[in-house]
Amino acid sequence: MGGSGIKGALVDTAAGALTTKRHRIATPAPGTPDQVAGVVRLIVKHFAWNERMGVALPARVKRGIALTAANIDDSWIGIDASALLSNATGCETAVLNDADAAGLAEMTLGAGRGSGGVALVLTFGTGIGSALFIDGVLVPNTEMGHLELHGGVAEHYAAESARKRDNLNWTQWAGRVQEYLSHTEFIFAPDLIVLGGGVSRPKRTRKYLHLLSTSARLVPAKHQNEAGIIGAACAATKPL
Ligand code: BGC
Repeated sequence: MGGSGIKGALVDTAAGALTTKRHRIATPAPGTPDQVAGVVRLIVKHFAWNERMGVALPARVKRGIALTAANIDDSWIGIDASALLSNATGCETAVLNDADAAGLAEMTLGAGRGSGGVALVLTFGTGIGSALFIDGVLVPNTEMGHLELHGGVAEHYAAESARKRDNLNWTQWAGRVQEYLSHTEFIFAPDLIVLGGGVSRPKRTRKYLHLLSTSARLVPAKHQNEAGIIGAACAATKPL
């Protein structure tokens, strides 16, 4: 689930690949839990799905409950998203943070596969999502997009949405991303950084990746905008 669209697909979790096209429905404003549950029901119906599923939310999620709501409606806070979506669809639903989902896809089946040490998967979109791994094991619910930078929230300054909002060219935006990466590296000293989100498409990375310099190995995500869906499906294969 994203701020502008809610997308679903069937996934081959062993191969780490979608087996269908993504079905997308615009996120209804303001995106309350009941509105979103209605859309998720339509997506499940579209695929005639009736088994377990995974849903990635742009929120900190513990035991199925949404604890934050940075780029979604505040009414999500405290909601048992797992119970809500399971009831709305009849499918037992695993719910996790969207960047954690993308991170799981990248570290197990994508650009970070086989990497030990400290790895960070960062997704650039409306906000900046983060997933932290130690020797391939996820430390869930980190919120590195909310680190402080220039006295404000880092994601407001360096997310993909800030590039559009402030009409930045790719070089200008890369300058901001560099500041953000340097700050994040200073705090977490990762060995690997995977850059994810829509900006990890080759068409995009060509415009800015060469401008970035990090101590950690820096690689674009393999699954790009599909990582969240793949990771959510992987989460659904494990006990809730
Ligand atoms: C949210 C995170 C989310 C990220 C990417 C941030 O604003 O706080 O939970 O992972 O955006 O969607």
